[in-house]
Amino acid sequence: MPITTCVFDAYGTLFDVTAAAREAAGQPEFDAISESWPQLAANWRLKQLQYSWLRAITGAHTDFWEVTQNGLDWALEAQGLTGDTPLRKRLLDLYWELQAYPEVPTMLQALKDAGLNTAILSNGSPAMLDGAVKSAGVGAVLDDVLSVESVGIFKPDHSVYDLVGKRFGCTPSQVLFVSSNGWDAGAATGYGFVTAWVNRVGEPMDRLPWTPPHVLSDLTTIPDLAAA
Ligand code: LAC
Repeated sequence: MPITTCVFDAYGTLFDVTAAAREAAGQPEFDAISESWPQLAANWRLKQLQYSWLRAITGAHTDFWEVTQNGLDWALEAQGLTGDTPLRKRLLDLYWELQAYPEVPTMLQALKDAGLNTAILSNGSPAMLDGAVKSAGVGAVLDDVLSVESVGIFKPDHSVYDLVGKRFGCTPSQVLFVSSNGWDAGAATGYGFVTAWVNRVGEPMDRLPWTPPHVLSDLTTIPDLAAA
């Protein structure tokens, strides 16, 4: 069945979270993380995601903004930086002013020119996503921004992936789902989406029961994949 709808994860997939953290680390006032920022960023992301999964499994949902702050607080404490309020604030502010990866606007425009539906499907809260979409200037080439907040549980719960069919009236096999998170791409494959894992940094494939059929190094070829 041809693809009618292209759906993207947000953080790390369309929006470049890593570059933002690197930029903060380069500012003289945040010298404390000039060397250690990659570990801080990795711990922050890992804890943010672990907390989202644990909250989903235990039915203790809260929004992504809270688990983002919880993850950062763990990561700051791990580096002895608890109490560095300006650093904490700067890093959190980054989530509201992210840039898209350079190929994103052209890629989304090509999908729209080809008559496809385009959307974000993200753990992010509506307000966080609105901030990132505006900051990256991609609102005009997205038909919708779908947040897990409308179902009250994080990915990879299937009720999140159900949002796509409900919004666009398509079957899972008509959806190309794109994520830089191996676990998200894997779980969405199990759900029945056609999937592409964007593996920019050469990570190993996640050992899960489902393997994404497409592995890409960036988003440039998504319009070709959708048309194939
Ligand atoms: C998201 C996170 C998982 O945007 O990257 O849903």
